[in-house]
Amino acid sequence: MTDVVLDVRNYSVQLHTATSSLTVVDDVSWSVGRGETLAIVGESGSGKTVSLMALLGLIPEYVVTDTAGSAHLGARDLLSLPESELRKVRGAEVGVIFQDPLAAFNPARRVGPQIAESARRHLHLSADQAKRRTLEVMADVSLPNPRHHYVAYPHELSGGMRQRALIAMAIVSGPSLVIADEPTSALDVTTQAQLLELLKRLGRDLNMGLVLVSHDMGVVAALADQVAVMYAGRIAEYGSATSVLKCPDHPYTRGLLDSIPDPRLPHGTAFRALSGAPPDLASAGVGCRFADRCELAVERCVGQRPALEPVPLAGGQSGERQLSACWRHPRVTTPVSSAVAR
Ligand SMILES: Nc1ncnc2c1ncn2[C@@H]1O[C@H](COP(=O)(O)OP(=O)(O)O)[C@@H](O)[C@H]1O
Ligand code: SF4
Ligand SMILES: [Mg+2]
Repeated sequence: MTDVVLDVRNYSVQLHTATSSLTVVDDVSWSVGRGETLAIVGESGSGKTVSLMALLGLIPEYVVTDTAGSAHLGARDLLSLPESELRKVRGAEVGVIFQDPLAAFNPARRVGPQIAESARRHLHLSADQAKRRTLEVMADVSLPNPRHHYVAYPHELSGGMRQRALIAMAIVSGPSLVIADEPTSALDVTTQAQLLELLKRLGRDLNMGLVLVSHDMGVVAALADQVAVMYAGRIAEYGSATSVLKCPDHPYTRGLLDSIPDPRLPHGTAFRALSGAPPDLASAGVGCRFADRCELAVERCVGQRPALEPVPLAGGQSGERQLSACWRHPRVTTPVSSAVAR
């Protein structure tokens, strides 16, 4: 990767509540380049949302948060910026897309002016210029009738249209990075596919980095250039989507892939779901956090944390970058039979 947009290194997040202090993101590193899509994938509760929200200063104020490590957006470390600077970064340099666009828009105001306001604020445009820019971007996100949608209220748009409007708001200032957290999971499958394709195209056309959070391996397989698989606050496996999805090393990645029904199999064929549930972080031990669900676990797995390190490749072949945090590196040379292998 040549032109890195965001470089996250040894990043941890601790949340303090009235009753406990939990390290919900534990020493993770990843980066995303211009025109590239990084998917962060993992079951619910693995720390995907917290890791991104804490980077952008979006954790609710009542939750006391400590962060460690660094997250460089260009020359600046997001983790050491004061809130006033971080606010400028959000919207101007980093666009954020959440699952629920209704929560992002003010329900009492028309959609277009809300997008235009972001353009005015961040690009220092006049009212007319901001409106023109907004209409252009509304067309870019394939809203079929930008002038009509400009004056609509959020509730007057369908879920898919609202999400397109939110994408327009995220990109109107020409950010170098867009972060999309489960942006389509509330939508039907066809609309999901269209929107994800749109995000991918915009990322490439506008030369932005795209960080896409998902719990859906099918989405990841369709869109990602790089994949970071998160489990219980740590990265289990990381690397090019082609190698991670075709030849996963970490038993958790393999479990996620095996959980996907394969459309090529006869209807009714059972698929292997991942059994068990992620550990309670408050009582998780020092070793591999997947140990109590892992068929390959040995004593060492429980006592020592496996480092994220390059996966040994079979037969000395040189492959694309692939890192895995597993003592046993069970990567096999035969591709998984899953629907997403590509
Ligand atoms: N506001 C909060 N207060 C306390 N704990 C939280 C809060 N938000 C998230 N958590 C905890 O942080 C962990 C990671 O959550 P999250 O990042 O939302 O996971 P994901 O997005 O992968 O589903 C979970 O254990 C969750 O219970
Ligand atoms: S380190 Fe051990 S417990 Fe963890 S995934 Fe690898 S084999 Fe399983
Ligand atoms: Mg989440």
